Amino acid sequence: MTIELATIVDFIRYGASRFGAAGLTFGHSYDNALDESTHLVLHALHLPHDLAPAYGQARLTAAEKRAVITLIDRRVDEHKPVAYLTGEAWFAGLKFKSDMRALVPRSPIAELIQAGFSPWLDERHVERALDLCTGSGCIGIAMAAHSPDWQVDLADISDDALALARENVEFQDVGERVRVICSDLFASLAGERYDLIVSNPPYVTEQEFVALPPEYGHEPALGLRAGDDGLDFALRILAAAPDHMGDDGVLIVEVGESERALVELLPQVPFNWIEFNVGQMGVFLLDRRDLVEHADAIRAVAKARG
Ligand SMILES: C[S@@+](CC[C@H](N)C(=O)[O-])C[C@H]1O[C@@H](n2cnc3c(N)ncnc32)[C@H](O)[C@@H]1O
Repeated sequence: MTIELATIVDFIRYGASRFGAAGLTFGHSYDNALDESTHLVLHALHLPHDLAPAYGQARLTAAEKRAVITLIDRRVDEHKPVAYLTGEAWFAGLKFKSDMRALVPRSPIAELIQAGFSPWLDERHVERALDLCTGSGCIGIAMAAHSPDWQVDLADISDDALALARENVEFQDVGERVRVICSDLFASLAGERYDLIVSNPPYVTEQEFVALPPEYGHEPALGLRAGDDGLDFALRILAAAPDHMGDDGVLIVEVGESERALVELLPQVPFNWIEFNVGQMGVFLLDRRDLVEHADAIRAVAKARG
């Protein structure tokens, strides 16, 4: 069937056409069929992801063709995210191990990390940072890699996710400055205070969860589901964060589409909604002073849902 296909570019094009025809959902690592296909084909051929375009005309051996087609078939038949098929994902310019123990890294917070959190942290001094709900460890490990002076803690409730995070700490060689901690949000972090807390917690509403495309079914539901309005975790984080921040501390949390529900629940809180290259992505920043000033309202809303 694929006898007419010969070159790397041929197979990239073929994969993209198959993905498009199958109506796959993109967005776990790449937002379109061509980029996904490129990644998959280059991975199967053991070639670098930034291969010079001239090699696109190189022809594949019969064995290589079989390896590429196997991966393309699996992506179409199983609807598995590419990162789980290849075992790797790129985040903030770094390569991470990725498998079904944790969500595929894709948070827009990568852009903030690569920009050194400028301008948000320009006037602030960071020594200790926390990545709460760390999953694969991607956010905290990238922070440690991009900011060599920071001490970073990674916390998650899932043993599976933490095992993967530990592998990624080793893979990125940041073990001297990064701790991996099992914790139900802040429960095991008593007495710890951070200059920066970053979190991409679960924030998918129940209604959204049941309608998610099959790609998401391969990810742990523990990393997605967050109650009727998607705010179960964000509200607990808002309520408890001030006890774990230095006086000048900053909290950055991703809530995605649940942004609207959060603003409706807490209209008096001055959330700074961060602008990314592609626009707003439901990521807010608050400093400790704002959290303390509105602590009563935040606690009341958080307590109301038990
Ligand atoms: C949306 S995923 C984010 C993972 C990672 N930060 C990323 O950006 O790819 C949310 C993570 O929260 C973790 N989680 C769920 N409930 C938690 C809890 N009560 N305390 C700590 N982590 C929790 C899940 O195990 C999952 O790894």
